[in-house]
Amino acid sequence: VTTAVIGAGYWGPNLIRNFLACSTTDLRWVCDLEPARARRILGDRTAVSVTDALDDVLDDAQVEAVAIATPAATHVELALACLEAGKHVLVEKPLATSVADAEKLVDVAARAGRVLMSDHTYCYTAAVQRIAQSVARGSLGELQYVDSVRINLGLVQPDIDVFWDLAPHDLSILDFVLPGGCEPVAVAAQCADPIGAGVACVGYLTLHLGGGAIAHIHVNWLSPTKIRTTIFGGSRQIAVWDDLNPTQRLSIYDKGVDLGDGTASRDAQREALVSYRIGDMVAPALREREALEGVAREFADAIREHRAPLTDGEAGLRVVRILEAVGRSIDAGGAAVPLSTDPAVSELVGVGSEAR
Ligand SMILES: NC(=O)c1ccc[n+]([C@@H]2O[C@H](COP(=O)([O-])OP(=O)(O)OC[C@H]3O[C@@H](n4cnc5c(N)ncnc54)[C@H](O)[C@@H]3O)[C@@H](O)[C@H]2O)c1
Repeated sequence: VTTAVIGAGYWGPNLIRNFLACSTTDLRWVCDLEPARARRILGDRTAVSVTDALDDVLDDAQVEAVAIATPAATHVELALACLEAGKHVLVEKPLATSVADAEKLVDVAARAGRVLMSDHTYCYTAAVQRIAQSVARGSLGELQYVDSVRINLGLVQPDIDVFWDLAPHDLSILDFVLPGGCEPVAVAAQCADPIGAGVACVGYLTLHLGGGAIAHIHVNWLSPTKIRTTIFGGSRQIAVWDDLNPTQRLSIYDKGVDLGDGTASRDAQREALVSYRIGDMVAPALREREALEGVAREFADAIREHRAPLTDGEAGLRVVRILEAVGRSIDAGGAAVPLSTDPAVSELVGVGSEAR
């Protein structure tokens, strides 16, 4: 699949490297408003062309697919132009900066019969794929909670806040891993901007999941320490993913707390029936490979096989729906807002329609 990359800033070079390395993709163009950046990355001895004009890419009939790695606010305009020129499109996270724009992209891609893929990079890591398998097979038992921390001294972004910058990772992982019936039904968020950046720099996000489980995501640009840890707590096993620990990224604990069978009184249960399972911890052997290699391959395979990719436009839209609801929750003083208009959902999570 002959590709082009738009945007050669911080993230674009990773896409460029993987499209060059992938055996099923051929990189033909890199487009950036500052072409010197693209030239620096590609070096002198390259067959890849560089331009600052999108039309050079769109007018080239050999280019079948375009990857967009520009700031979030530019995604919709660039992706629409590519789709309208008949190209398949891979868009960096977040797919768009509003639900309306994300819906438009999904709709235009479907009508044009083109692949629209969201770069939900972490879904292509061995750790997340293993967790998704464990959840799907039921080996974690019933999912009770998810706790995710993604904090470091981050680049304060001019166009988006910390939720739109970092939480797409956690939300796309949840979207990929959570089983049917466990989807987010409401979201509550709190945030702070202690440095006066004009956008939230510290954010806490609570998702109520169908079936009664809960997920919490902490994103922060102001933390001196970098943490990338997510816990998936199940009734049988608990998976702890520490993405910064290459020798043991994933640990599966056969540990937990059981609380009787519910037939005794509450006090009696507490005294007699609380039991701690202290079983083994297993660190599965995971194949170390760059997630973007999987992204590049999946993009090309989906195009050749005329199918939706694993992380398609709909997945990007579901993530954007939650991010937009985060804004509504913050406007409502941190109240939980439903992600569905179904009144049964509001009742389930105890939120009133006024918070919608
Ligand atoms: N998947 C991941 O893990 C991951 C990680 C980091 C960033 N990202 C995403 O990648 C995207 C880019 O982020 P970044 O940190 O690389 O930004 P950046 O600002 O470092 O780079 C953006 C580049 O796009 C170029 N550009 C802007 N508008 C353009 C246009 N209309 N045409 C051509 N070039 C244009 C700029 O000149 C710049 O070189 C964002 O959506 C971000 O969320 C994804």
